[in-house]
Parts: sequence; C-alpha cells; structure tokens
Amino acid sequence: MGTMQYPVLDAAFDGIILTDGDGNIRLVNAAVRRMFGYSAGELEGRELGVLLAPRDAATYSRTFAGARSMQAADALGISRQMTGRRRDGTHFPLEMALTELSADSGRFFLAILRDVTDRIPAEVALAETEEWLRSLLSTAPDGIIVIDEHAIIQSFSGAAARMFGYDPQEIIGKSLNILMPEPYRSQHDRYIARYLETGERHIIGISRIVVGQRADGTIFPLELNVGEMFPGGKRMFTGFLRDLTEVQRKELRLQDLQAALLHASRFSTVGRMSSTLAHEINQPLAAVANYTQAALQILQRVEGKEAARAREILEKAIAQTARAGNIIRHLREFLTRREMTRRSEDLNQIVQEASALALIGAGEHDVRVHFDLEPTAPKVWVDKVQIQQVVMNLVSNAIEAVQAWPKREITIATEVDKQQGVAKVCVIDTGPGLAPEVGARLFQPFVSTKPQGMGLGLSICREIMEAHGGQLHVETLPTSGTRACATMPLAEEDDDAGE
Ligand SMILES: Nc1ncnc2c1ncn2[C@@H]1O[C@H](COP(=O)(O)OP(=O)(O)OP(=O)(O)O)[C@@H](O)[C@H]1O
Ligand SMILES: [Mg+2]
Repeated sequence: MGTMQYPVLDAAFDGIILTDGDGNIRLVNAAVRRMFGYSAGELEGRELGVLLAPRDAATYSRTFAGARSMQAADALGISRQMTGRRRDGTHFPLEMALTELSADSGRFFLAILRDVTDRIPAEVALAETEEWLRSLLSTAPDGIIVIDEHAIIQSFSGAAARMFGYDPQEIIGKSLNILMPEPYRSQHDRYIARYLETGERHIIGISRIVVGQRADGTIFPLELNVGEMFPGGKRMFTGFLRDLTEVQRKELRLQDLQAALLHASRFSTVGRMSSTLAHEINQPLAAVANYTQAALQILQRVEGKEAARAREILEKAIAQTARAGNIIRHLREFLTRREMTRRSEDLNQIVQEASALALIGAGEHDVRVHFDLEPTAPKVWVDKVQIQQVVMNLVSNAIEAVQAWPKREITIATEVDKQQGVAKVCVIDTGPGLAPEVGARLFQPFVSTKPQGMGLGLSICREIMEAHGGQLHVETLPTSGTRACATMPLAEEDDDAGE
C-alpha cells in the first residue's frame, strides 16, 4: 500500500496521525515529523506506539484495544497528557486526542498531538523545582538564601539559619538588609536598584569576602557567591554563603589571600631588616676603609721588610672592605628595586576583605566592629595586597588593644579628601591608647609592648604607605583609645580599572 499525501494537513500546527483499525500508521503530517524528528515516509506502516514513551505506549495500546472492542468511540476523543518519544530516544511532554473515523473502507483512528514542553514549566516543573529546592535548602552545607528583586528573603536554608542565628520562619519575608552591618544595610537596596537599572554585575558570579551580622548583633566574615535565576519568569537572586570563621583553612580562597599577604609581609620584613642592617653595617665598614687607608699611608713612610709585609696586608684588607661595601650596595639596590603592582582599586573592597580576614577569631573576644565606609566607593592607586596587609595589621593591633578592655569596639572607616587627592582608611579602637614607653619609637622595628609581639607591624605599614607616596599616623584619642590612619593617593579617572 502506498503512502497517502494530503499537503493541506502539513499546514496544521498540531500533529495529525491517521492509523488503520490495527493502529498502524497510514499517514502523518509535517508537524508530526518535526515533533518526533522523522523524515517523510519513515513512520508509515509502523505502530503508533513507537511515538510514545514505553509506559504510555502500553496505556495507549490498552485504550486502543478497548476502543476496538467497543462499538461507540466513548473512550476516545479525550485529550490526555502523555510522554512522546522522539526518533533519537529523547522524551517530551505531549497532549494527544484520539478519534475514531468510520469509512466504507473500514475503521480508522485519527490522533491529534500537541507538544506541550513550553506549558510544562509553569505547572509540573515548578512543583518539581520547588521540591528539589526544598531538599537542597535543608541539606546543603553552605548557607543558601534566595531573595527577590526587592531583596525580600524567599528562602533561608538550615545552614544559613545556624550561621546567622535566625529561624527561617522569622526571617522569610524580611529584607536581606538585616543580615548585614551598616553601612551595607542602608546601601544594599541601592546596589540592587543599580544592578536592575544598569545590568552591571558587581557581585553576581564573583566570589567575594563580605561581612555578615548575626541576630545577636555580632559580625563575622563570610564568603559569598551570588547567582541569578528566573523561575516562572520572576527574577530571583540566590546567595551561597560560607562562614569563614568555621571553614577549614585549606579549603579556601582565603588561604591564597593569606599566603599572598604572608609572603608580602615576610618579604617586607626581610627587606626592612636587611635594608636597616645594610645601612647600619655600611657606616662602620666605611670607617674601617678610612682607617685602613690612613694606616697604609703611614706605613708607606716606614722602611723595612716587616713594614712592606704589613702594607701588603692592609692593601688586602682595603680590597676586602671595598668588596663588602659592594655586596651591601647590591643588596640595597636589590631590595629597593622590589616592584609594586599598582592598579586602580576599590578602597572599600580592600578594607572589607582585609578586615574580614583580620576579624577571624575576633568573635571569640566579643569585639564589636562598625564599618563607616565612604559611600562613593573611592578608587585608589595602590598595590592591593600591600594595602590589605596594612589594614590587617591595623585591625589586628586594634583587636589586641581592646581585648583586655571592658569596652571592646572598633570602627573601620574610609574617607576621601578630593582636594588633596587622597583617600584614607582609619581604624579606631576603644582600647587603652598608646603606652607611654612606646612613644616616639612607635614605627621602629622590634618595639613592642606585647609578650608575643615582634614590633614589626607598624614599621612595615609605614614603609608600605610611604612607598605609595602616602602616610601613616597613629595617635591616642583624648577619649582614650587609638586611631591609626593610612593615607594613599586616589586613582586618576583614566587609570586602568583594576578589576
Ligand atoms: N591600637 C593600638 N592601641 C594601643 N597600642 C598600640 C596600638 N597599635 C599599636 N600599639 C602599640 O605599638 C606597638 C607596636 O605595634 P606594632 O604593630 O608595630 O607591633 P606589635 O603589634 O607589638 O607586634 P607585631 O605587629 O609585629 O605582631 C605595640 O606593641 C603597641 O604597644
Ligand atoms: Mg601589630
């Protein structure tokens, strides 16, 4: 039997299949071939069941058998959800209605099919996604927070609840802001608004270290990854959070950051010590050279074999001091030649990351930290790692200072002086202030009032700030407590973006 052709059916949007009384395909239109991935003539003569997933094929043949045994076509004509099977074996959701046609030449069945893939997400898939999301939220080790476009919390995972000390019930429906300390609390809405407006991604897809605030008001460092999704056409943001106070060091990006800081710090320490040493040794060495030179001149006027031998020795001594001098000069050149990689960087971000790192462990001492960051997010022209090191040192000093003190508060502030072209980061603590015995020797290496202190922190910080063309000031406040401020140049408008 040849295949029948009805071109007009090919114009139909729905799939149309005509089978004979035994369910063998006699005719399909173009929509069916498109839907299932067959070419012309391939389906004719085969069972309708090949177009259905095995489970549905079985159901279909039962229906079909039933229909055949019945005189009336009652069982037919009902549109059912089924799963279609394409030629390549993949499945898709399908709606199928079957009708019996009687003709002189026998019984026929007409099937009308519609691919409903696009309709599924709205109903079934959403339920599935929700189910999946629920299990993810309750079991994931990372904290997961889902917010909508207005930063209203939609889901709050078990791990997030433990991290922040909130009950999911009490926090869902509230603004995400309450999980952050000031100034982020007041700025966050603007960040989202800016993103929605400009589409510029400042945090989405980028892992960042930020500061969170627990229900009891304490703050802690965390690593944050933000994703964007559009379930059911609505925009949502998902935050994956990791509490850095808990995480094993080796798992982290933090480790890299700390390693880089440590490296810079060692290099700087060695650099500083060697450079001081070179300077100190150079002076006596120069004196030795002068003295030997003078002795040689005196000996030049003395006759005799002994004197000639002594002159020879002195000449060798002079040559050796010259050599020592050269070595030292090279060493100093090497150390001062050390390169900085300066870029245009966001000072607030530097400060935030470095503080978060320095604060690890501070929570145990119940230290309250406030951020008071310049809202314009100043760009500075610096070596990021080195400035982070300065901030870490200053914050560490502040933490150490307030530890044994009843009032344990630290304020970390940034500000801009446009006129001077500088930005400033200040760390202010409510500790005892500077000890009188430290006084003027604050920036000298190895001056420390702490049992474990190296007395290197501030000297390194000052060195770094001066290398940046900036300054470091530390002073006792009249109200008790200490303020340490590092000043650095602002980046020019056309400096390269450091991101
Ligand atoms: N915020 C502060 N409050 C009170 N004293 C401070 C403060 N910052 C620094 N000091 C004093 O200055 C000294 C030198 O500080 P510096 O950071 O150079 O060394 P350190 O903290 O003692 O040791 P290191 O930083 O090498 O571990 C400290 O020992 C301390 O006496
Ligand atoms: Mg220190």
